[in-house]
Amino acid sequence: MNYVDATIAPTRKTGHIKLHGPEAFAGMRKAGHLTATLLDALVPLVRPGVTTGAIDRFCFDFAMAHDAYPAPLDYRGFRKSVCTSINHVVCHGIPDDKPLRDGDIVNIDVTLIVDGWHGDSSRMYQVGNVARRAVRLIEVTYEALQRGIAAVKPGATTHDIGVAIQTYAEAERCSVVREFCGHGLGQLFHDEPNILHYAHKTSAVELKPGMIFTIEPMLNLGRPHVKVLADGWTAVTRDRSLSAQFEHSVGVTATGVEIFTQSPSGLDFPPAQV
Ligand code: MF3
Ligand code: CO
Ligand code: CO
Repeated sequence: MNYVDATIAPTRKTGHIKLHGPEAFAGMRKAGHLTATLLDALVPLVRPGVTTGAIDRFCFDFAMAHDAYPAPLDYRGFRKSVCTSINHVVCHGIPDDKPLRDGDIVNIDVTLIVDGWHGDSSRMYQVGNVARRAVRLIEVTYEALQRGIAAVKPGATTHDIGVAIQTYAEAERCSVVREFCGHGLGQLFHDEPNILHYAHKTSAVELKPGMIFTIEPMLNLGRPHVKVLADGWTAVTRDRSLSAQFEHSVGVTATGVEIFTQSPSGLDFPPAQV
């Protein structure tokens, strides 16, 4: 795959990987910061009895109040502002009127568009008292994302990111979901390249300064296989084992990596609420 200066490329998928400049990084910093601020604000809200629909409305209202737009809303037929994925739901769960229950684990995936730039990030939230094995899955998934990010630097490849995540996850007896991946982003929600969370030597893409993408590993306690429910969105583990995911939007710098969606309040790993 070839690379192109993002400032001269059209704002659509071109088959080339966009290399972004300082203006894009400034835009991503702002969009990422607002996205992280919203994920922070959700921490005290995620409690037993709260519906995912109420969380969705909170996120929509937050976006409107901050001159931002929730990218999922009406994206390819998705009807809500965020994805809420509970327990064995891997990703793309649709907010509804069902209350969260004590012991649930839920991923909330927020993408805010600010001045045309997309901040895309998700975290795992613990609802009340969560079983130890579920907390361990969340911890392993968080660490897997950190290891993936640590592999990002010019000259490394997307394969190195996948190897870092898969090696760690499997050593911790968790499996890596194959059907969904990270993605380039910027003024587009989903752009080239795909960021696979497992080894893929023959399709590795070299990382160059100016690339902007997400890393968003999904790990399961059981087998890696998923299926999508009849609603066309909700992805669940086939064996109904628990699944967890964390996501950051990052940019490749001259020397390493910049995380655009880091929590301003140290809440990247939301603590159990007591
Ligand atoms: N935020 C998700 C991602 O990380 C995409 C959600 S697509 C939607 O790429 F349509 F479900 F919102
Ligand atoms: Co994403
Ligand atoms: Co996301």
